[in-house]
Amino acid sequence: MASDDRNGEQAAGRVFEPSPEFSAAAHIGSMEQYRGLHQRSLEDPEGFWREVSDEFEWSRPWTVLNEWNEPFTKWFVDGELNITVNCLDRHIDAGYGDRIAYHWEGEPGDTRPITYAELLAEVCAFANGLRELGLEKGDRVILYMPMIPELPVAMLACARLGIVHSVIFGGFSADAIRDRVNDAGARAVICTDGSWRRGKVIPLKENVDNALADNACPTVEEVIVFQRCEDEINFEDGRDIWWHDLVAGKPETCDPVMVPAEHPLYVLYTSGTTGKPKGVVHATGGYMVYTALTSKWIFDLKDDDVYWCTADIGWVTGHSYIVYGILANGVTSVMYEGAPDFPDFGRLWEIVDRYDVTVFYTAPTAVRAFIKWGDEWPAKHDLSSLRLLGSVGEPINPEVWLWYHRVIGGERCPIVDTWWQTETGGIMITPFPGAIATKPGSATLPFPGIEPDVVDEQGNSVGANERGLLIVRRPWPGMIRGIYQEGWGQPGHPGEFGERDRFVSTYFEKIAGVYLAGDAVTRDEDGYYWIIGRIDDVLNVSGHRLGTAELESSLVEHPAVAEAAVIGFPDDLTGEAVAAFVTLRGGFAAGDDLQLELRNHIGNQIGRFARPKMLRFTSALPKTRSGKIMRRLLKEIATSGEVTGDTTTLEDIGAIAALRGDDEE
Ligand code: WT7
Repeated sequence: MASDDRNGEQAAGRVFEPSPEFSAAAHIGSMEQYRGLHQRSLEDPEGFWREVSDEFEWSRPWTVLNEWNEPFTKWFVDGELNITVNCLDRHIDAGYGDRIAYHWEGEPGDTRPITYAELLAEVCAFANGLRELGLEKGDRVILYMPMIPELPVAMLACARLGIVHSVIFGGFSADAIRDRVNDAGARAVICTDGSWRRGKVIPLKENVDNALADNACPTVEEVIVFQRCEDEINFEDGRDIWWHDLVAGKPETCDPVMVPAEHPLYVLYTSGTTGKPKGVVHATGGYMVYTALTSKWIFDLKDDDVYWCTADIGWVTGHSYIVYGILANGVTSVMYEGAPDFPDFGRLWEIVDRYDVTVFYTAPTAVRAFIKWGDEWPAKHDLSSLRLLGSVGEPINPEVWLWYHRVIGGERCPIVDTWWQTETGGIMITPFPGAIATKPGSATLPFPGIEPDVVDEQGNSVGANERGLLIVRRPWPGMIRGIYQEGWGQPGHPGEFGERDRFVSTYFEKIAGVYLAGDAVTRDEDGYYWIIGRIDDVLNVSGHRLGTAELESSLVEHPAVAEAAVIGFPDDLTGEAVAAFVTLRGGFAAGDDLQLELRNHIGNQIGRFARPKMLRFTSALPKTRSGKIMRRLLKEIATSGEVTGDTTTLEDIGAIAALRGDDEE
């Protein structure tokens, strides 16, 4: 990925101060102001969050700010509200109904501007349709849709009625859908016939049909299908219903169902250390306030901004920073349906140019792809409307940061490198673009209300520049409320608090009394945080979280596989890539065909994005005397290619370990 112009870029030790012009116009314009806010938020949380939350409409104002019964937190405890009133009606009532909410851009080139007033009307009509089907507060509904306006419409329509949505990224397979539908006990699935990807149709409805086949998901009563691609699809009478038939003739107003602040807004599944994905539960009030405030201050949002986050709404980044946090601020966004390289590598920059995008938020893996595609693509377009850039999902290599700053940002745009997680609901560690000087590769300092620390295995804070575990010392409004399980929130039900043991052991056990993020980190002498990466068996492939256990269980479900070990290894483009080492059952022969079949098997079970880049057959996996797989050795092999080439023949990796005398105990 070397490009001639980049050779001179030296990241080490460089500090970028916000320009005086940027600071002067910013919501938070100085380090002193940032420090004051952060200090006040910790010393006077009641006052701090009262001021912030008073900007919103509550049908019942809160009197109790928060409760903390480890590991459970509640925020704005006795408040009641509807989040869609705050994301939509509030702006329309204030006279902004004609403002564009989304400039939507379809992959084939169709476009559609949608105003706040239009968005509310569609949300209401669709909510009336959901109501007609008998769906109500507390029900769970699965959304499996591409990046079209109907996805936020469906999310907001659920929220209008207090229905808990669970969005599944369109790249997931039928098997993954089935697991999530059943875990959530979903009453309905909302999908499209298909989605556009590089000019081809991905058959989303067919995936849903396969997931539900043979009554595999007995809780599902309806499948609502929005027509996007107009390909022929299977339609099951009595179960399937067209979106356009459901909304036909429905009123464009719908009284919002007011819910307690702690009512679950959504469940979003994410990978963990065990084979089964976790249903992360977020609560309405705290999530709204936290995503709205982080959006406003970190992206420095103003009335005339055109903001664009390139994430897919199927991940938390889209939930918080395309839908809820952004709409809560009443600003205009761009929403793009398709691939960044279709029809050519200039697609994103053409869109920035045409809509005069001012704030652009993407992932390091995307920036690395832009670098590979070449500087000539952004150079073809006028990017001078941009004033602020963002990065999320994985550590951004300093050299990549510098390229982003120079080539996309014209050396004038600050970069906010935002650290957070599905579980945190919103951004936790980040620059304030008008206040905090940035260092390439560092997410810098905590957001107000957030008290992180770097500790050793015993929970003691470590010194400057020492590697440790990233923890958060006190709860915050956007924090995960638990791991979903049937019976969530029903007093006396065994599932009232979700998967409680798993929740405790994942986040609160290793270091008592604090939230463990699962990342390794250092903090420098200026207090700046430098995220290193996951400490657990979770991989980060192009900003997509994948559990090694999940991939291994998928492999061993294949009849040919006796045992499998999955590890991550560095990749120039995707950050980390998946390597799988497999031993075979008797009667199966290693070879190209089987290799392809196993990669496709993972593709079918989880999703194409999870397919291993490297898959190798071995006669035995290297193990310690107590039987633990020696992942470090496998990592070395994958990284250095010590056993040369991506061979499909059987290798004796166990023998390599024996020869080296390796033993991790
Ligand atoms: C993990 C969370 C947050 C939305 C996208 C990913 C890594 C996230 C950064 C960053 C370094 C980062 C961490 C974290 N991560 N942002 N700015 N710098 N690492 O959400 O799938 O829940 O993954 O992504 O390892 O734990 P997620």
